Amino acid sequence: MTERFRDRVALVTGGGSGIGRATAMAFAAEGAAAAVNDAAADRAHAVVAEIEKTGARAVAVPGDVSREEDCRRIVRETESALGPLDILVNNAGVGTSGTVLSTDVAAWDRLVEVNLRGTFLMSRAALEVMVPRKRGVILNAGSIAGLRGLPDRAAYIATKFGIVGLTKAMALDHVKDGIRVNTVCPGTTHTPWIDERLAEAPDPEAAKASLVARQPMGRLGTPEEMAAAYLFLASDESSFTTGTALVVDGGFMC
Ligand SMILES: NC(=O)c1ccc[n+]([C@@H]2O[C@H](COP(=O)([O-])OP(=O)(O)OC[C@H]3O[C@@H](n4cnc5c(N)ncnc54)[C@H](O)[C@@H]3O)[C@@H](O)[C@H]2O)c1
Repeated sequence: MTERFRDRVALVTGGGSGIGRATAMAFAAEGAAAAVNDAAADRAHAVVAEIEKTGARAVAVPGDVSREEDCRRIVRETESALGPLDILVNNAGVGTSGTVLSTDVAAWDRLVEVNLRGTFLMSRAALEVMVPRKRGVILNAGSIAGLRGLPDRAAYIATKFGIVGLTKAMALDHVKDGIRVNTVCPGTTHTPWIDERLAEAPDPEAAKASLVARQPMGRLGTPEEMAAAYLFLASDESSFTTGTALVVDGGFMC
């Protein structure tokens, strides 16, 4: 275990699966106390149990980031269990496929609620405690889909562009408060989310091959590679970096 985040408290939303799980575990492995949020409480508790086995401190803070009352409670429970919040990772997100013509209105609303409103509400709950202390880091889950168009992903792309924009707005609004705000923009990363998407395809093997084929590195990213980017942006090594969108995509955007 290294000590890059010793005495820091990191809260990861959607931390029960995929990139969020890897990020919460990586923070804990580097000395942080980790609060693991997920809308699926059992997933949050399972990740906390994994972290506790390593001897690190962790707490499960289940809740839905699209609900204002949940967001304030998640921050409150994090602080009462682990101490003042230093790092928030707004990782929770949902996706759907579709063009503007084929996207179901309920699916559009849910993506906006979780991805965009959830990032806004969790950031606000965190800023309420961070601003008076004049320190903190907020990291948001962007995507390559927050930086360029892709076919058949209209709602997802709209929310991820919004997150990249909100990151820049918050970075400027709170730079004088000693708070840095950045986005990680993952390329296609092998998580349960991708497995679910592939399982729904008419030919899952062919669908996976086509995802891999568009990757210049010839493979998908791993959750651990995304976690490494979050940890860099949360650490003092990136102390002059705010408002940026760090692309971690195996060369997809080249
Ligand atoms: N996997 C990829 O290829 C990829 C690429 C770019 C960006 N991302 C982004 O990374 C993030 C994580 O993706 P992943 O692939 O690890 O997904 P995942 O589905 O494996 O994990 C997401 C977790 O978020 C939780 N969640 C969903 N809605 C929630 C809510 N309202 N409140 C709290 N928790 C909620 C889910 O229960 C789940 O455990 C997402 O924001 C996604 O958009 C993923």
